[in-house]
Amino acid sequence: LPLTDASVDLIVTSPPYYALRSYTDGGEHYDGQIGSETTPAEYIAALVDCTREWVRVLKPSGSIFVNLGDKYTGAGGQWVDDERPDLSRRRLGKTSTKGQRYGLKPKSLLGLPWRYALACIDQLGLILRAEVIWSKPNSLPESVTDRVRRSHEQWFHMVRQPRYFSAVDEIREPHTWAHVGATRTANSKNGGSIASPVQGMGNTTGSFRGFNPLGKLPGSVWSIPSEPLTVPERLGVDHFAAFPTEWPRRLILGWSPSGICTVCGEGLRPSGIIEKVDAGGAHYRPTLGHVTGMGAPDGRAGARLATLRRITGYACACPESTAPTRPSVVLDPFGGTGTVALVATALGRVGISVDRSADYCRLAAWRTSDPGQRAKALQVPVPPKVSDDQLTLDFATQTDKAGTP
Ligand SMILES: C[S@@+](CC[C@H](N)C(=O)[O-])C[C@H]1O[C@@H](n2cnc3c(N)ncnc32)[C@H](O)[C@@H]1O
Repeated sequence: LPLTDASVDLIVTSPPYYALRSYTDGGEHYDGQIGSETTPAEYIAALVDCTREWVRVLKPSGSIFVNLGDKYTGAGGQWVDDERPDLSRRRLGKTSTKGQRYGLKPKSLLGLPWRYALACIDQLGLILRAEVIWSKPNSLPESVTDRVRRSHEQWFHMVRQPRYFSAVDEIREPHTWAHVGATRTANSKNGGSIASPVQGMGNTTGSFRGFNPLGKLPGSVWSIPSEPLTVPERLGVDHFAAFPTEWPRRLILGWSPSGICTVCGEGLRPSGIIEKVDAGGAHYRPTLGHVTGMGAPDGRAGARLATLRRITGYACACPESTAPTRPSVVLDPFGGTGTVALVATALGRVGISVDRSADYCRLAAWRTSDPGQRAKALQVPVPPKVSDDQLTLDFATQTDKAGTP
């Protein structure tokens, strides 16, 4: 990677899955792409080499999030997937080694995501903080009849050291009625009561007894539908493996600083007072950036608890966090269509997207600067399309001054 040591705050990436697709450049399958190794063991070794390089560029306080999918051995025990022969054989092109065995019986899941995660712990000394399951509500049907349909993929959260940057308060989720009830019961059994809303952020780390007024910690299963991506024809390139913007949105908000203090060099953490905002009759609201709402899911009883609370301040290691900040850096070393860089820049970070295909880099350059894509990434209304021959407001004003009605 053309980056200096310890220069990146967060890495969010989805490497090519093993023996699934052929990525192209100039319309051709290109050499040296991850995923087309001869054996799964070589694939894992290549991924571990990549990860070693990510560790070099990652700050000690940084996090790495890696998304991986798994694969089955075919009916003969070979690694090509007999259940999706179209993808495994035809698309692998000249590097295909159809029929290679991995020492597993036929029809076995290879367990590649976990083989990779364990190798990162064992060989790179990384700390594995979490496995997050990507549950796919709109996953594809499968033709098998003797096992469950696979409708999830894995994400791994890995760090270099036990103390690292996190701002998980930014992505807390609204308490549900069931959660509030469980906390109440647990607290009354313990002779306590529900913690009153805090004034500072001291107890926002998610203790069981006090339910956090900013919301509950996200769980380890995230249900996020895949998102279609329409690329303008003029770019002459397509890409079929972009992940939804919601993934980097949550990860960037939760694990990269909104700014880095230019005096102490630390990332700003949510630390301010929680404001109570009278939300009138508002009811249950999903997380909106760092504003969460709390109320009854049906909306009727919601008014009783309909108080919005939000993060109002940020702190670093300085006694007063008033120094100017610079943006944090978010990297996707398998950038593809630039989803991570798009969301990172829309959220005020520096986004770096790397890909071996110049075509995909061109696609990412379009995507990260397109107003419609940026609006989607921020979950705000897409601005109306501007036709190529529309005059700028500036030009129209000059025309008016010249006397044109
Ligand atoms: C699963 S896609 C990433 C898609 C991306 N997350 C997005 O949302 O668009 C994997 C990407 O890795 C790239 N790639 C494969 N081998 C590579 C290598 N050796 N170096 C850099 N990029 C590589 C492919 O060209 C492909 O675009």
